[in-house]
Amino acid sequence: MNNASSSGIWEWQLVRLIVFGAIALFILFIAIEGFTEEGIRLVIRWTARIDVVCFCIAFGASAFHRMRKNSFSFWVYMNRKYFGISFAILHLIHLLALGVLQYVFHPVFEQAAGISLLAGGIAYLFIILMLLTSFEYFSKMISRKNWKLLHTFGGYWILMIFFSSYGKGVMRGEYWDLIFLTMLVMVLGIRMLVARK
Ligand code: HEM
Repeated sequence: MNNASSSGIWEWQLVRLIVFGAIALFILFIAIEGFTEEGIRLVIRWTARIDVVCFCIAFGASAFHRMRKNSFSFWVYMNRKYFGISFAILHLIHLLALGVLQYVFHPVFEQAAGISLLAGGIAYLFIILMLLTSFEYFSKMISRKNWKLLHTFGGYWILMIFFSSYGKGVMRGEYWDLIFLTMLVMVLGIRMLVARK
């Protein structure tokens, strides 16, 4: 719906803005902290933070637009796929930074609990499948019903991991994580409300 008359930022422009903006921020972190464990951990934490916002927008867009019909909810709704794509790209950067942490600084994968690795691994499988099936070439390979199942179930799985990560953060006393937890609860709430109507 990106036509000449529509103003603002749409579709791939939005993806470029989010992804390159985030990469610029990550380069700044490394420039300030140096190529150190703390620098890489900052990148990991911030990929998750920018990502949770993209995820909430993508996962809540349809319900939000059904609840409130205005030009902003329309913009969010029309761009939901592009927020989803930005989320997936940034989460692949999360994985890349984890790889750097593992091989250069700290054996993070060996020290993580088996259950967390399994849940995170499944989430990555969903992220990749959801990313691929956001493009017509791959989405044509599955039925509409299976596409919906994949994106709904995958979405709830990812939501659960964010929930558990930020929930643990709050319990450790990292109260900033409450912001992200609240966003996740709101998305869940809006989806439930609209589903009941
Ligand atoms: C096997 C895959 C994964 C591993 C090994 C992993 C590992 C980590 C590590 C070590 C951190 C802490 C970095 C630090 O604070 O120093 C972290 C943070 C985080 N990760 Fe991942 N992660 C994985 C997948 C995921 C997935 C799939 C999601 C969400 C869908 C996710 C969401 C988060 C969040 C929300 C944080 C907290 C950020 C913060 O403290 O602000 N991770 N991850």
